[in-house]
Amino acid sequence: MEKLENGGKEYIVAANWKMNMSAKAIKSFLEEMNQVEIPKHLRTIIFPPYPYLNIFQKMLRYSRITYGAQDIAKEEKGAYTGEVSADMLIDMGCSYTLTGHSERRSYYAETPEIVAEKTRAAIMHSLTPVICIGETLEQRQSGRYKEILKAQLDAVEASVRESMGVCMIAYEPVWAIGTGVIPKISEIRDTHKFIHEVLISYGGTYRKTVPILYGGSVSEKNVREIASVKYVNGFLIGGASLNAERFKTIIKLLSVD
Ligand code: PGA
Repeated sequence: MEKLENGGKEYIVAANWKMNMSAKAIKSFLEEMNQVEIPKHLRTIIFPPYPYLNIFQKMLRYSRITYGAQDIAKEEKGAYTGEVSADMLIDMGCSYTLTGHSERRSYYAETPEIVAEKTRAAIMHSLTPVICIGETLEQRQSGRYKEILKAQLDAVEASVRESMGVCMIAYEPVWAIGTGVIPKISEIRDTHKFIHEVLISYGGTYRKTVPILYGGSVSEKNVREIASVKYVNGFLIGGASLNAERFKTIIKLLSVD
Protein backbone atom coordinates (compact mmCIF):
# COMPACT_ATOMS: atom_id res chain seq x y z
CA MET A 1 0.00 0.00 0.00
CA GLU A 2 1.18 3.52 -0.78
CA LYS A 3 2.14 5.57 2.22
CA LEU A 4 -0.38 8.31 3.00
CA GLU A 5 1.09 11.73 2.23
CA ASN A 6 -0.51 13.93 4.84
CA GLY A 7 2.11 13.73 7.56
CA GLY A 8 -0.41 12.94 10.26
CA LYS A 9 -2.78 15.73 9.21
CA GLU A 10 -6.52 15.30 9.11
CA TYR A 11 -8.29 13.61 6.20
CA ILE A 12 -11.85 14.44 5.33
CA VAL A 13 -14.13 11.69 4.11
CA ALA A 14 -17.39 13.18 2.89
CA ALA A 15 -20.37 11.28 1.53
CA ASN A 16 -22.68 12.95 -0.99
CA TRP A 17 -25.83 10.87 -1.09
CA LYS A 18 -27.58 13.02 -3.71
CA MET A 19 -31.27 11.98 -4.15
CA ASN A 20 -30.80 8.48 -2.76
CA MET A 21 -31.60 6.42 0.35
CA SER A 22 -34.76 6.12 2.50
CA ALA A 23 -35.49 6.63 6.20
CA LYS A 24 -35.22 2.88 6.78
CA ALA A 25 -31.95 2.51 4.90
CA ILE A 26 -30.45 5.51 6.68
CA LYS A 27 -31.32 4.19 10.13
CA SER A 28 -29.54 0.92 9.52
CA PHE A 29 -26.61 2.70 7.82
CA LEU A 30 -26.12 4.97 10.84
CA GLU A 31 -26.54 2.11 13.30
CA GLU A 32 -23.69 0.36 11.55
CA MET A 33 -21.58 3.48 11.35
CA ASN A 34 -22.06 4.17 15.04
CA GLN A 35 -20.21 0.91 15.74
CA VAL A 36 -17.18 2.04 13.78
CA GLU A 37 -14.26 3.59 15.52
CA ILE A 38 -13.36 6.67 13.53
CA PRO A 39 -9.69 7.55 14.07
CA LYS A 40 -8.79 11.04 15.24
CA HIS A 41 -7.19 12.02 11.96
CA LEU A 42 -10.38 11.34 9.98
CA ARG A 43 -13.29 13.74 9.76
CA THR A 44 -16.38 12.04 8.41
CA ILE A 45 -19.18 14.13 6.95
CA ILE A 46 -22.41 12.82 5.40
CA PHE A 47 -24.62 14.93 3.12
CA PRO A 48 -28.07 13.29 3.06
CA PRO A 49 -31.18 14.66 1.33
CA TYR A 50 -32.89 17.42 3.37
CA PRO A 51 -35.87 15.42 4.72
CA TYR A 52 -33.56 12.98 6.49
CA LEU A 53 -31.47 15.51 8.39
CA ASN A 54 -33.66 14.98 11.45
CA ILE A 55 -32.63 11.32 11.58
CA PHE A 56 -29.01 12.45 11.68
CA GLN A 57 -29.77 14.91 14.41
CA LYS A 58 -31.32 12.17 16.54
CA MET A 59 -28.91 9.36 15.80
CA LEU A 60 -25.55 11.13 15.72
CA ARG A 61 -25.77 13.05 18.95
CA TYR A 62 -22.81 11.23 20.51
CA SER A 63 -21.05 10.30 17.32
CA ARG A 64 -17.84 11.56 15.70
CA ILE A 65 -19.68 11.53 12.39
CA THR A 66 -20.84 14.96 11.30
CA TYR A 67 -23.33 15.95 8.64
CA GLY A 68 -24.50 18.70 6.39
CA ALA A 69 -26.81 19.68 3.53
CA GLN A 70 -26.34 19.20 -0.19
CA ASP A 71 -27.43 22.74 -0.97
CA ILE A 72 -28.49 25.97 0.72
CA ALA A 73 -30.65 28.97 -0.18
CA LYS A 74 -28.80 32.17 -0.90
CA GLU A 75 -31.66 34.14 0.68
CA GLU A 76 -32.20 34.49 4.42
CA LYS A 77 -35.95 33.78 4.50
CA GLY A 78 -39.24 34.64 2.85
CA ALA A 79 -41.21 33.76 -0.26
CA TYR A 80 -38.82 31.28 -1.88
CA THR A 81 -40.87 28.15 -2.41
CA GLY A 82 -38.86 24.97 -2.13
CA GLU A 83 -35.76 26.58 -0.67
CA VAL A 84 -34.05 25.75 2.64
CA SER A 85 -32.26 28.51 4.54
CA ALA A 86 -29.02 28.48 6.50
CA ASP A 87 -30.94 29.02 9.76
CA MET A 88 -33.04 25.95 9.05
CA LEU A 89 -29.92 23.87 8.45
CA ILE A 90 -28.46 25.09 11.73
CA ASP A 91 -31.73 24.11 13.42
CA MET A 92 -31.24 20.61 12.07
CA GLY A 93 -27.76 20.45 13.55
CA CYS A 94 -25.84 20.77 10.29
CA SER A 95 -22.23 21.90 10.41
CA TYR A 96 -21.60 21.91 6.65
CA THR A 97 -23.19 22.48 3.30
CA LEU A 98 -22.11 21.67 -0.21
CA THR A 99 -22.22 24.55 -2.65
CA GLY A 100 -21.82 24.48 -6.40
CA HIS A 101 -21.97 20.75 -6.99
CA SER A 102 -21.71 20.23 -10.76
CA GLU A 103 -25.23 18.73 -10.80
CA ARG A 104 -26.55 21.97 -9.31
CA ARG A 105 -24.51 24.02 -11.75
CA SER A 106 -25.61 22.07 -14.81
CA TYR A 107 -29.20 20.87 -14.06
CA TYR A 108 -30.32 23.88 -12.02
CA ALA A 109 -28.40 26.57 -13.85
CA GLU A 110 -26.39 27.73 -10.86
CA THR A 111 -23.95 30.33 -12.10
CA PRO A 112 -20.62 31.02 -10.37
CA GLU A 113 -22.28 34.12 -8.85
CA ILE A 114 -25.15 32.08 -7.37
CA VAL A 115 -22.65 29.58 -5.96
CA ALA A 116 -20.74 32.51 -4.44
CA GLU A 117 -23.90 33.88 -2.81
CA LYS A 118 -24.81 30.49 -1.39
CA THR A 119 -21.30 30.07 -0.03
CA ARG A 120 -21.57 33.48 1.57
CA ALA A 121 -24.93 32.64 3.14
CA ALA A 122 -23.37 29.53 4.66
CA ILE A 123 -20.39 31.41 6.08
CA MET A 124 -22.60 34.13 7.58
CA HIS A 125 -24.31 31.41 9.61
CA SER A 126 -21.13 29.56 10.58
CA LEU A 127 -21.79 26.60 8.33
CA THR A 128 -18.63 25.34 6.66
CA PRO A 129 -19.14 25.39 2.90
CA VAL A 130 -17.63 22.63 0.80
CA ILE A 131 -17.33 24.45 -2.52
CA CYS A 132 -17.41 22.05 -5.45
CA ILE A 133 -15.53 22.99 -8.59
CA GLY A 134 -14.70 21.01 -11.70
CA GLU A 135 -14.32 21.07 -15.44
CA THR A 136 -16.20 19.17 -18.15
CA LEU A 137 -14.41 16.73 -20.42
CA GLU A 138 -14.54 19.23 -23.25
CA GLN A 139 -12.94 21.87 -21.06
CA ARG A 140 -10.26 19.42 -19.94
CA GLN A 141 -9.47 18.41 -23.51
CA SER A 142 -9.38 21.99 -24.73
CA GLY A 143 -6.62 22.66 -22.20
CA ARG A 144 -8.64 25.54 -20.74
CA TYR A 145 -9.63 23.71 -17.60
CA LYS A 146 -7.35 25.63 -15.24
CA GLU A 147 -8.91 28.87 -16.39
CA ILE A 148 -12.37 27.40 -15.68
CA LEU A 149 -11.40 26.19 -12.21
CA LYS A 150 -9.83 29.53 -11.38
CA ALA A 151 -12.93 31.40 -12.55
CA GLN A 152 -15.10 29.18 -10.32
CA LEU A 153 -12.86 29.93 -7.34
CA ASP A 154 -12.49 33.63 -8.18
CA ALA A 155 -16.26 34.15 -8.17
CA VAL A 156 -16.48 32.82 -4.61
CA GLU A 157 -13.40 34.69 -3.43
CA ALA A 158 -14.73 37.97 -4.79
CA SER A 159 -17.79 37.49 -2.60
CA VAL A 160 -16.38 36.03 0.61
CA ARG A 161 -12.81 37.44 0.62
CA GLU A 162 -11.09 36.65 3.94
CA SER A 163 -13.64 33.98 4.75
CA MET A 164 -12.27 31.80 1.97
CA GLY A 165 -10.03 30.55 4.75
CA VAL A 166 -12.91 28.76 6.50
CA CYS A 167 -14.10 26.89 3.40
CA MET A 168 -13.23 23.53 1.96
CA ILE A 169 -12.82 22.92 -1.75
CA ALA A 170 -13.92 19.74 -3.51
CA TYR A 171 -12.31 19.28 -6.89
CA GLU A 172 -14.62 17.06 -8.92
CA PRO A 173 -13.92 16.70 -12.63
CA VAL A 174 -17.44 16.48 -14.13
CA TRP A 175 -16.32 13.66 -16.43
CA ALA A 176 -15.25 11.56 -13.45
CA ILE A 177 -18.55 11.83 -11.53
CA GLY A 178 -20.46 8.56 -11.55
CA THR A 179 -18.56 7.30 -14.59
CA GLY A 180 -15.98 4.98 -13.03
CA VAL A 181 -13.32 6.97 -14.87
CA ILE A 182 -10.80 8.84 -12.77
CA PRO A 183 -8.06 11.20 -13.91
CA LYS A 184 -4.50 9.91 -13.95
CA ILE A 185 -2.77 10.30 -10.60
CA SER A 186 -0.41 12.81 -12.21
CA GLU A 187 -3.42 14.86 -13.37
CA ILE A 188 -4.92 14.85 -9.86
CA ARG A 189 -1.57 15.93 -8.42
CA ASP A 190 -1.19 18.72 -10.96
CA THR A 191 -4.75 20.02 -10.55
CA HIS A 192 -4.71 19.95 -6.75
CA LYS A 193 -1.39 21.78 -6.76
CA PHE A 194 -2.90 24.36 -9.10
CA ILE A 195 -5.92 24.87 -6.81
CA HIS A 196 -3.59 25.21 -3.85
CA GLU A 197 -1.61 27.87 -5.72
CA VAL A 198 -4.75 29.78 -6.65
CA LEU A 199 -5.76 29.82 -2.98
CA ILE A 200 -2.32 31.04 -1.96
CA SER A 201 -2.47 33.76 -4.63
CA TYR A 202 -5.49 35.29 -2.86
CA GLY A 203 -3.09 36.16 -0.04
CA GLY A 204 -3.19 35.30 3.64
CA THR A 205 -1.19 32.34 4.91
CA TYR A 206 -4.29 30.67 6.40
CA ARG A 207 -5.37 29.80 2.87
CA LYS A 208 -2.66 27.18 2.91
CA THR A 209 -4.86 25.28 5.31
CA VAL A 210 -8.02 25.12 3.19
CA PRO A 211 -8.59 21.40 2.61
CA ILE A 212 -8.83 20.35 -1.02
CA LEU A 213 -10.90 17.20 -1.46
CA TYR A 214 -10.99 15.04 -4.56
CA GLY A 215 -14.32 13.72 -5.86
CA GLY A 216 -15.40 11.63 -8.86
CA SER A 217 -15.63 7.83 -8.90
CA VAL A 218 -13.75 7.40 -5.63
CA SER A 219 -13.98 3.81 -4.43
CA GLU A 220 -12.26 1.30 -2.19
CA LYS A 221 -10.10 0.43 -5.21
CA ASN A 222 -8.53 3.85 -5.74
CA VAL A 223 -8.93 5.79 -2.47
CA ARG A 224 -5.59 4.79 -1.02
CA GLU A 225 -3.62 5.72 -4.09
CA ILE A 226 -5.34 9.09 -4.46
CA ALA A 227 -4.87 9.77 -0.73
CA SER A 228 -1.13 9.47 -1.24
CA VAL A 229 -1.14 12.49 -3.58
CA LYS A 230 0.21 15.75 -2.19
CA TYR A 231 -2.50 18.40 -1.67
CA VAL A 232 -5.28 15.79 -1.57
CA ASN A 233 -6.75 16.32 1.88
CA GLY A 234 -9.77 14.10 1.58
CA PHE A 235 -12.64 12.92 -0.59
CA LEU A 236 -16.18 13.67 -1.62
CA ILE A 237 -17.73 10.33 -2.43
CA GLY A 238 -21.04 9.63 -4.17
CA GLY A 239 -21.90 6.09 -5.28
CA ALA A 240 -19.45 4.23 -3.04
CA SER A 241 -20.77 6.01 0.06
CA LEU A 242 -24.31 4.66 -0.28
CA ASN A 243 -23.40 1.25 1.01
CA ALA A 244 -22.30 1.03 4.65
CA GLU A 245 -19.88 -1.84 3.98
CA ARG A 246 -18.13 0.04 1.17
CA PHE A 247 -18.04 3.27 3.13
CA LYS A 248 -16.60 1.48 6.16
CA THR A 249 -13.94 -0.12 3.96
CA ILE A 250 -12.93 3.30 2.67
CA ILE A 251 -12.69 4.62 6.22
CA LYS A 252 -10.61 1.63 7.21
CA LEU A 253 -8.25 2.10 4.25
CA LEU A 254 -7.65 5.69 5.33
CA SER A 255 -7.22 4.70 8.96
CA VAL A 256 -3.87 2.96 8.46
CA ASP A 257 -0.86 5.06 7.74
P1 PGA B 1 -19.35 9.65 -7.50
O1 PGA B 1 -19.97 11.10 -7.15
O2 PGA B 1 -18.43 9.28 -6.37
O3 PGA B 1 -20.54 8.75 -7.59
O4 PGA B 1 -18.61 9.79 -8.78
C1 PGA B 1 -19.20 12.09 -6.53
C2 PGA B 1 -19.99 13.38 -6.41
O5 PGA B 1 -20.75 13.72 -7.32
O6 PGA B 1 -19.85 14.10 -5.41
